Amino acid sequence: MSTSSWASPLNDWSAAQYLKFEDERTLPARDLLSRVSLKSPKRIVDLGCGPANSTAVIESRYPDAQLVGIDSSPDMIRKAKATLPHLKFIVEDLKSYSPPEAVDLFYSNAVFQWLKKEERFEVVKRLMASQPSGGVFALQVPDNLSEPSHVLMRETAKSGPWAAKLASVGRDTFQTPQEIYDQLKPVSSRVNIFHTSYYHALENHEAIIEWVKGTGLRPFLDPLQPEEKEGFLKEYLKRLQGMYPSCVDGRVLLRYPRLFVVAVKE
Ligand SMILES: C[S@@+](CC[C@H](N)C(=O)[O-])C[C@H]1O[C@@H](n2cnc3c(N)ncnc32)[C@H](O)[C@@H]1O
Repeated sequence: MSTSSWASPLNDWSAAQYLKFEDERTLPARDLLSRVSLKSPKRIVDLGCGPANSTAVIESRYPDAQLVGIDSSPDMIRKAKATLPHLKFIVEDLKSYSPPEAVDLFYSNAVFQWLKKEERFEVVKRLMASQPSGGVFALQVPDNLSEPSHVLMRETAKSGPWAAKLASVGRDTFQTPQEIYDQLKPVSSRVNIFHTSYYHALENHEAIIEWVKGTGLRPFLDPLQPEEKEGFLKEYLKRLQGMYPSCVDGRVLLRYPRLFVVAVKE
């Protein structure tokens, strides 16, 4: 896919929609942090902290660290400040973010997939250049563009009266593990990459839509008028029902692969 991620400007994120699946979305945040071996980092930045669910995970492991969350969404930062009022949260784009002091741990859960492909590791390397030796950059991204949930989203976009409006909507594929390793190894003493597939037992097919409405479906719905949205969602639901079988208890298993990277600065 080309780098035409956001052909039209996106509306702001909705913290409330995102948090409908807070437990499931926070699992990989815990798994990512569990692979960071720093004992007592002094300064930590949560890049794309969202509503502070990931920041809370970091805080419980490193309560004595100076912890800051940054996010480009005003709604997410409002929610983050309300949730953890004793911490510092800033509305800022991580692409231009420069920390005022050296940061021991940059942590980013489910954010870098939203950047254009060619920007992602330029940002990582720029931020790593400001870290002390032994500093860590840890990130996790969904690896779900080939999952039925996302394939059907794209197929629905192509096959309705909304097709022209959505022609250039899509997210860049993520770098392969080897591309990531080759980008980061020259500036790292160690690059650990791993992959986990979560299986979320969601209530029904409508719940898959509720899940992706908080993230991957946003660019497809944002450009549409209300009646087009309704038509799109109806068609998308029909396709999901045809692809995901119901389980013994009527729930639907949403397979959700995710890619993790933990790099230690040389
Ligand atoms: C899927 S949420 C992840 C939230 C949280 N980190 C978590 O673990 O659940 C992605 C977040 O990345 C933020 N984001 C996307 N692009 C960004 C950018 N260029 N700079 C800062 N934040 C960004 C969004 O506003 C959103 O809050």
